[in-house]
Amino acid sequence: MSRSARSLQDAYSIADLRNLARRRLPKAVFDFVDGGAGDEHTLKANNAVFDDWTIVPRVCVNVADRRLGRTIVGRSAALPLLLSPTGLAGFFWRNGEVCAAKAAARLDLPFCLSTNSIASLEEVAAAAPDGDRWFQLYFLRDREWMDQLVRRAARAGYRVLCLTVDLPLTGRRERDLRNGFSLPLRPSLRNVLDIARHPRWALDALRSSHDFGNFSNGSAAFTTVAQHVASLFDPSADWDTVAHIRELWKGPLVIKGILHPADAIRAVELGCDAVIVSNHGGRQLDHSPAALTALQDVVQAVGDRTEIILDGGVRRGTDVIKAMALGASSVSSGRAFLWGLAAGGEPGVERAIDILRDELDNAMALVGVDQLANVTYDHVRHRAQFGGPR
Ligand SMILES: Cc1cc2nc3c(=O)[nH]c(=O)nc-3n(C[C@H](O)[C@H](O)[C@H](O)COP(=O)(O)O)c2cc1C
Repeated sequence: MSRSARSLQDAYSIADLRNLARRRLPKAVFDFVDGGAGDEHTLKANNAVFDDWTIVPRVCVNVADRRLGRTIVGRSAALPLLLSPTGLAGFFWRNGEVCAAKAAARLDLPFCLSTNSIASLEEVAAAAPDGDRWFQLYFLRDREWMDQLVRRAARAGYRVLCLTVDLPLTGRRERDLRNGFSLPLRPSLRNVLDIARHPRWALDALRSSHDFGNFSNGSAAFTTVAQHVASLFDPSADWDTVAHIRELWKGPLVIKGILHPADAIRAVELGCDAVIVSNHGGRQLDHSPAALTALQDVVQAVGDRTEIILDGGVRRGTDVIKAMALGASSVSSGRAFLWGLAAGGEPGVERAIDILRDELDNAMALVGVDQLANVTYDHVRHRAQFGGPR
């Protein structure tokens, strides 16, 4: 058994996978995945807010036969879990997007490919033809190119279009600024030493592409993510642009990056099929609400009219239970699978999913629910209402 397979076997939590990812990745790359904007207040709050809720189990419920499956935007999935769109996955592990898409397909979960992937959307489609593939779109200055991307996604068989609306420009991610993070890594003395200390990543990276696969010739060498976004993404896009995309894309349309209930209402009125409550994993506006905090307002506003997916801070099976008790129909997770990917490629993504599945299964039995539809608000108490272990 290889060293990375052994390490994966010894990872029992998402935090363990994060530790493995930290060991394999150069600091600048690990920080790009791990970090957030500003003081990382929102990044930390995304996780910490889960601790504000306790779960009150019910007993003497028959939980011998537990069903963890869930329908997510019209298609059944093995778990209530979407793999969030994450740019540059192919920079953390060679063919990272293909690895993640294949793992998700094998384990019967939806995978959302980012506009900013290293592999092109066609390459990922060819590698995971049977998976539930979603394509994430950003607003682009070149509207013709943006419309073409939408058509390419439809032609390549992506089922759902996920429109991310919280990135008119890049949040100020200070770790990336300090590290001088760019694609590829600029050969500064610090980066060269950093890379030399991480030979497993370096050897893999030597054989990898270092370009944004959906933008052939779209970006110059040593591009920072902020430069890439500033030159290609459109900060003037508005709800009319959402309406335009709604018209163009005939399949299910999901809007990602909603925190305010009024924006959720607007999205539903424009015909979006689901809302992803998200602050982009704390990478955009620092001091925006934690995703789980914003969830409750959004549920109140549109919960009876649309599916709501909670995105941000999910690290444990119990987090999934809490999100669903507070009204989410499913959850989406970025770093959990990225750490698995960075630690061990496709088996690493599978390990991340296995961990979340085992934890969720265990939690369901202990909470006293045999299926997710039976998780209700009555299962949770906010710490303001109820002491619980803290
Ligand atoms: C390295 C990285 C890259 C990301 N790239 C994108 C992206 O290209 N498009 C997008 O909509 N969200 C992107 N996100 C945000 C994720 O989709 C998701 O909202 C976030 O990771 C959720 O928080 P979590 O990591 O705590 O699960 C990215 C997140 C990370 C960590």
